[in-house]
Amino acid sequence: MSKKLLLKHAHVEGIRTFDVYRKHGGYESVEKALKMEPDAITEEVKTSGLRGRGGAGFPTGLKWSFLAKPEGVPRYLVVNADESEPGTFKDRYLMEYIPHLLIEGMIVSSYALGANTAYIYIRGEYSWIPDILEAAIEEAKAAGFLGNNIQGTGYNLEIYVHRGAGAYICGEETALLESLEGKRGNPRLKPPFPAVKGLWACPTVVNNVETIAAVVPVINLGGAEYAKIGVGRSTGTKLISACGNINKPGVYEIDMTITVEEFIYSDEYCGGIPNGKRLKACIPGGSSVPIVPANLLLRTINGEPRYMNYESLAEGGFATGTMMGSGGFIVLDEDQSVVKHTMSLSHFYAHESCGQCTPCREGTPWMFKILKKIASGQGTRNDIDLLWDVQRKIEGNTICPLGDAAAWPVAAAIRHFRDEFEWYIDNPDALTGNYGIGNYD
Ligand code: NAI
Ligand code: SF4
Repeated sequence: MSKKLLLKHAHVEGIRTFDVYRKHGGYESVEKALKMEPDAITEEVKTSGLRGRGGAGFPTGLKWSFLAKPEGVPRYLVVNADESEPGTFKDRYLMEYIPHLLIEGMIVSSYALGANTAYIYIRGEYSWIPDILEAAIEEAKAAGFLGNNIQGTGYNLEIYVHRGAGAYICGEETALLESLEGKRGNPRLKPPFPAVKGLWACPTVVNNVETIAAVVPVINLGGAEYAKIGVGRSTGTKLISACGNINKPGVYEIDMTITVEEFIYSDEYCGGIPNGKRLKACIPGGSSVPIVPANLLLRTINGEPRYMNYESLAEGGFATGTMMGSGGFIVLDEDQSVVKHTMSLSHFYAHESCGQCTPCREGTPWMFKILKKIASGQGTRNDIDLLWDVQRKIEGNTICPLGDAAAWPVAAAIRHFRDEFEWYIDNPDALTGNYGIGNYD
């Protein structure tokens, strides 16, 4: 049975409201934190080993400790709620069902960072959630946990919810800041990192929704206790949004010690694959991470069981492993086509590229065109090599990670499923109808 830290009270009736949330221990971490020195909170977060839950897994306490603190310059906390990674919907769940957990985490985090203004930048498609968050903010304010002189300590904090307009690239932290400043969401070159020059050129910490929510149990338990949950550098719990060919799609909280096999087949989690079909492949961390075939998903190349944590999923590098990423767990059964799936993802990245860098702007639609050609039975074997060549020229040559994110799924698909690409090329007559490729023009 997995330990629940974030979703423990998710199903309590009325948990969205301040009163019920408070009755279940809500805002106790704020009361505890306000009695601590801000730097001591950062130390607790460092001790906890909490890693960024948006996808990169960067150590949260370390990021906070990078925050520049020049005299007289405001600092900001920005919560990245622009959750747009295909297959990822765990932040939506948190915000929709337990909004106060995010607000509570933001108060503790802002106090630790010395920020008096914090923002939640939320993806435009989550159109019904800002109202839920704003209601929670108003309730917290009415109870003296937000606004001026919080709990009589003299600490002031305002939280604003800012709606995005539906661009995936605005989830990249510097594009998000540009957008928040009212500009087109084009990623900035890093360094400087936001911790030094962020919102309105002021020091800013940008953290994912789940990361900030996890600060609540870190403070309640203490960093050292939190670090005992999980394994190695994968401490605490992680939310996984599971979808695709599984019996029980949904959002699960795991403690990162379970095997991938248990996660897919146990009734506590995904409940297995419908209709007794076999597992073909999986993208365990949102569409940006490499797809892995079933054999390498369940076991590492050394034959060891693969676990649901940062280190185990990545074991073997991209040759035989993948990444934890954002925890968007997409399962493909034996009937699914990796070629069409990769084509669909390529279309997504081509559409979402901001166009600043030539390799990404030109390369992403080029990859899509080659994939579409192969998927419709008009490809040649040279097209596979060309596709490989194009993705290689994108990876590592762009301003932001969208380029890599577009290249990696294509590389992994060719690496592990080359025979399927060749089958499409060698058997064009076997393809019927619209080849399931829809209208992508
Ligand atoms: P990154 O590795 O460049 O940075 C991670 C974080 O650490 C950033 O906040 C960065 O500012 C900070 N950082 C790194 N080095 C630093 C330094 N020396 N000083 C100060 N701060 C430093 O990764 P990034 O671009 O933030 O995220 C990429 C990931 O996002 C991908 O791996 C992907 O999985 C994920 N992603 C998630 C999405 C979602 O919907 N959740 C959407 C798209 C991508
Ligand atoms: Fe824009 Fe793509 Fe370059 Fe990122 S990699 S800055 S999305 S063109």
